[in-house]
Amino acid sequence: MNPVEKPRKILITSALPYANGPIHLGHMVEYIQTDIWARFQRLRGNSCIFAWADDAHGTPIMLRAQQEGIEPQELIDKMKQEHERDFNDFLISYDNFHTTHSEENKYFSETIYLAAKAKGNIATKTIKQAYDPEANMFLPDRFIKGECPNCGTPDQYGDNCESCGATYSTTEVVNPYSVVTGATPIEKDSEHYFFKISDYADFLKEWVNSGSVQKEIANKMNEWLEDGLNDWDISRDAPYWGFKIPGTEDKYFYVWLDAPIGYIASFKNYCDREDVDIDFDEYWSAERNQNNETELYHFIGKDIAYFHTLFWPAVLKSADMRLPTAVFCHGFLNVNGQKMSKSRGTFIQARVFLDHLPAEPLRYYYAAKLSNTVDDIDLNLKDFQLRINSDLVGKVVNIASRCAGFISKKFDGKLSATLADEALYQQFIDASDSIAQAYEDRRYSKAMREIMALADLANQYVDEKQPWVLAKDETRQQEVQDICSLGINMFRAIITYLKPVLPELAAKSEDFLNAGELSWNDIATPLLSSEIKKFRPLMTRIEEDKVDAMLEANKLLLAEAATLQAKTNTNNTEKDTDTKMSDASESATKATKEQDPISPTIEFDDFAKIDLRVVKILKAEHVEGADKLLQLTLDLGEGESKGQRNVFAGIKSAYEPAELEGKLTVMVANLAPRKMRFGMSEGMVLAAGPGGKDIFVLNPDEGALPGMRVK
Ligand code: MSP
Ligand code: ZN
Repeated sequence: MNPVEKPRKILITSALPYANGPIHLGHMVEYIQTDIWARFQRLRGNSCIFAWADDAHGTPIMLRAQQEGIEPQELIDKMKQEHERDFNDFLISYDNFHTTHSEENKYFSETIYLAAKAKGNIATKTIKQAYDPEANMFLPDRFIKGECPNCGTPDQYGDNCESCGATYSTTEVVNPYSVVTGATPIEKDSEHYFFKISDYADFLKEWVNSGSVQKEIANKMNEWLEDGLNDWDISRDAPYWGFKIPGTEDKYFYVWLDAPIGYIASFKNYCDREDVDIDFDEYWSAERNQNNETELYHFIGKDIAYFHTLFWPAVLKSADMRLPTAVFCHGFLNVNGQKMSKSRGTFIQARVFLDHLPAEPLRYYYAAKLSNTVDDIDLNLKDFQLRINSDLVGKVVNIASRCAGFISKKFDGKLSATLADEALYQQFIDASDSIAQAYEDRRYSKAMREIMALADLANQYVDEKQPWVLAKDETRQQEVQDICSLGINMFRAIITYLKPVLPELAAKSEDFLNAGELSWNDIATPLLSSEIKKFRPLMTRIEEDKVDAMLEANKLLLAEAATLQAKTNTNNTEKDTDTKMSDASESATKATKEQDPISPTIEFDDFAKIDLRVVKILKAEHVEGADKLLQLTLDLGEGESKGQRNVFAGIKSAYEPAELEGKLTVMVANLAPRKMRFGMSEGMVLAAGPGGKDIFVLNPDEGALPGMRVK
C-alpha cells in the first residue's frame, strides 16, 4: 500500500456544454470520465474540486431563443436547470456548476482581454464577412448553405460538401443562402479584434512538448505550429449574445474567448461561497503557483483540442495566469458501431436514458471502455446489457449474495475473527497500486479488467469451497463462517476499488457492511468479528426490453424535434458536426426543401441532353470513412458501351446496402465521371426527399429492364 502522504490540491474541469440543447450520451462520456477521476482522487485522500458551467453565449443560443420567442436569459436558465438535473442523476459529483453568462465571467473576460491588450497582443483588422441583409446580421460560416462548387449537390454547408467531400471557402459556394432567412448573403466590411497568437508561437512550442498534452495531440499541434498560426478572431458584431468588448459599442467577445474563462469564473464563484474556504489565487495566480503547489486539469473531447491546447494556454500566458498542468483529451462516442445519428435514433438524450435505465450501468460500461487515448469508444447496446449482467450482477454482487445469507442466518451477521486464506486476501491488497495507477492515468478499462479479475478470484474461491454443502454438516460450521467472511471481505475490497465508478452501489454496500465509509487505505485492514446487516439486492439485471424501450422513446423524441425544427426553418448551430445534439442541420435541410420552388423553365433540348437509364443495383456497399455515401455497382444492361458503373450515392442515412441490392432504379448515364475522395463516380442515381432518413430512391414500374432509356 502506498498511502497518500501529502494530499494533493487539484482543480479539474469538464468542457462546458452549450446551453442550446439537451445533454446526450456523447457528452456523458466526458462528464463520467471526469467524475470518476474526481471521485478517485478524493477516495485517495486528495482534494479535488470539480468546477464547470454551461456555455451560454453565441449565435445559436441567440437564434434559438428568438425562435422560441423568449429572451436568451430565459433559455439559458432553463437549460442550466435541465443540464444540472441530468448531471445529478448521472451521479456527477461536481462542486460547482455555473454559467458563462455571469458577473464573474464578465469580469475575468474583460480583465484578461485588457491584460492582453496592454501587452500588445490585440490587433484590429477590417475584414469582409458574409452578411444576411434580411436578418441584419453577419453570418458565421455554418449559417450559409448552397450548392457545392465541385459537384453541384444542393444545400451544402459553406465550407465542405457532404456528398463529394470537397472543402472550399464560403465565397465559392454556388447560389448561397442564409439558413436564418433564406436570403442571399452579401459581403460587408467589419472591423474585428484579433488575438495575436503568433506572439506566443515559441511559448506554445515549448508548452506543447512539455508533457501537458497527450502524444497524439502534441503531434497534431506541432503540425499546426509548423504551418504557422493565424491571428485569432475574438470579436463578433452585434447582434450577438455575449459580453461587449470594453471600449467598443457594438463588438462582442466571440463565444470561444469567454467560454474557457468560464472555468476560472466558476471556480471564483465557488470560492466566494460562504461555506467554502479556498484561496482563489492559490489555484489561478501564476506567481503563487510557481512550484505547482496546485494542479489544474481540463477534460475535453478531441474536437476542441485546438481551443484548449493553443488558444487557451496563450491567453492565460498573456494575462499572467497559471497554466493547466495538463489537458486530457478523449475520443468520441459511437453507438452500435456508428457515429451517433439522429436519423438512426442513436443520438441518445441523457434524460431519455435515465427515464428507462439507471445511471450506474452506463458509468461502468464507459469505464470499461475508456483509456487515456483519443480513440473513439463504442456503446454497443447489446454488449452493454450483457456486460452489466455478467460483470456487475453476475460477478460482483453475486459474491456478496452468495456469502451474506449464511452469515446472517447462521452467525447473527457476525464475521469470523480471522481470515480463512490470508494469501488470497493479500492478492486483493496487492492489487491496490496497480489499480490506483490505472485510475490516475485515466486507463479505466485497465482498472476495470483488474478489478473483474479479482471478482473472478473471489467467485472461484466460493465455488471451490462450496459453503452451501458444508452448511449441512453440523461439524463444519466454523468453516462456513470463515469462507463466507472472506467472501464478504473480498467483496468489500472490490466495491472499494469500484467506488469511483459506482458510488450508489458503494453506498448501499457501506450500509450492508455496516462499518463506515469504504476508503482505499482500509482495504489493507479486513473486517474481522464485525457485524454486517441483512443482505438486500444491490443491483438488478438489465432487461433487453428496457434498452429497446429507451431507444424507441429516443427515436420518437428526435422525430418530434425534427418536425418542430422543420416548421421554424432555423439552423441554430455554430460549431456543429453530425454528432452535435444542437445541430439542426437535418431538419433545416428539410425546411428549406419544403419551400423549394420549381426551377426556371428549360427547353426540351436541354432536357434531352440528359440520358436517363433504368439500371439494376448489383451491389451496394459501405464506404470506409464516408458518413453519407454508399458505393453502388449498377448494371446498365446488355450491349456494348453499357456494362457496369460505379456510383457513389449520398443515401447511407436512409438505406441499408442489403435493401438496395437487386432493385431497379434510374440513373443519369451521361454525367461526366467525377473523381471523389473514395474513387471515381460514374453517374448519379435519382432520389427524392429532404435527406436523413427521408431519402427515396426512384423505382421504375414492373417490366422495365436495365438499359432502357427514360424519356
Ligand atoms: N461549449 C463547447 C466547449 C467549451 S469549453 C470551454 C462545446 N460544447 S459541446 O456541448 O459541444 O461539447 C461539450 C463536450 O462534450 C466537448 O468536450 C465535446 O468533445 C464532448 N462531446 C460532445 N459530443 C461527444 C461525443 N459524441 N462523444 C464524446 N464526447 C463528445 O464543445
Ligand atoms: Zn460536392
